[in-house]
Amino acid sequence: MLFPDYRPRRMRRTEGLRRMVRETILTPDDFIYPMFVIDGKGVKNPIDAMPGQYQLSIDNLIPLARAAFDLGVPAVILFGIPDKKDPLATRAYAGDGIVQKAARELKNKLPDLVVITDVCLCAYMDHGHCGVVEKGVVENDASLDLLARTALSHAKAGADMVAPSDMMDGRVAAIREALDEDGRSSVPIMSYAAKYCSSFYGPFREAAGSAPKFGDRRTYQMDPANAVEAIREATMDAEEGADVIMVKPALPYLDIIYRIRQELDLPVAAYNVSGEYAMIKAAAEKGWIDGDRVMMETLTAIKRAGADMILTYFALDAARLLRGKA
Ligand code: PBG
Repeated sequence: MLFPDYRPRRMRRTEGLRRMVRETILTPDDFIYPMFVIDGKGVKNPIDAMPGQYQLSIDNLIPLARAAFDLGVPAVILFGIPDKKDPLATRAYAGDGIVQKAARELKNKLPDLVVITDVCLCAYMDHGHCGVVEKGVVENDASLDLLARTALSHAKAGADMVAPSDMMDGRVAAIREALDEDGRSSVPIMSYAAKYCSSFYGPFREAAGSAPKFGDRRTYQMDPANAVEAIREATMDAEEGADVIMVKPALPYLDIIYRIRQELDLPVAAYNVSGEYAMIKAAAEKGWIDGDRVMMETLTAIKRAGADMILTYFALDAARLLRGKA
């Protein structure tokens, strides 16, 4: 069909017609809200590079999680800021660790909210790396046991799903085994399968206090130049027992989301990370872009590329806008 017989503009003439042919519809169901939890009472520390996001003590975390849930957001993912760091990340898998306490309290107060926990060691290690460091090297196999213990302790505290973000090889299998051995075969694993070594994590590291004290994460996170390798990572994690495959970051990696969606038959999650959030917020504050519109366009693009779920700091704002429209 060619012009003038076919005119694509015909179906764009009114909002009603546009709605009828719209292919991608965002809903609050798509969102997972990332939250930073810290010890104390009445704490609400603003995160500089993430306007509108905070380090929250549990008493402040609960009402915000409830607000998200009431807006239709089904899930939150928790990141902990521990009271103490050491070379074995002991506070990551302590029964009275901050994430464990927060998960328990959230499940207690909001039983229908899906509580996901980020499983990593970087915020709990004195050196800030995601695994055990021996002679300056991040040791893969020595890290697996600590990661599995962390995931298990989260599940014991009530986490509905655990999400390993460390990028050690074999950690999905190690976590699956630890959960199953403890009779927790019903706890799903959302694997940060294609997690790139990205500079878009900058604001998050300030929020979580998780920047590495030496070197960088290039020996474990993926090279941003690689795409085929992402398929291999995702396939491996699927075979090790991952229930959800994550791509991270989202917007600069839409091609990866698309390819994984085509090649795998598991749900795909995408993490719209801190730097992506910060850029939109900063440009909007300067009046250079319309923040709300760019937010919705970004989230729509991530879903259009193939994401079934989007981890985003915009979860509340976007859900509010979607609700307002309905
Ligand atoms: C921990 C972790 C990071 C993020 C999620 N989990 C940071 C990192 O790998 O350095 C980044 C999230 C964001 O930027 O919003 N390993």
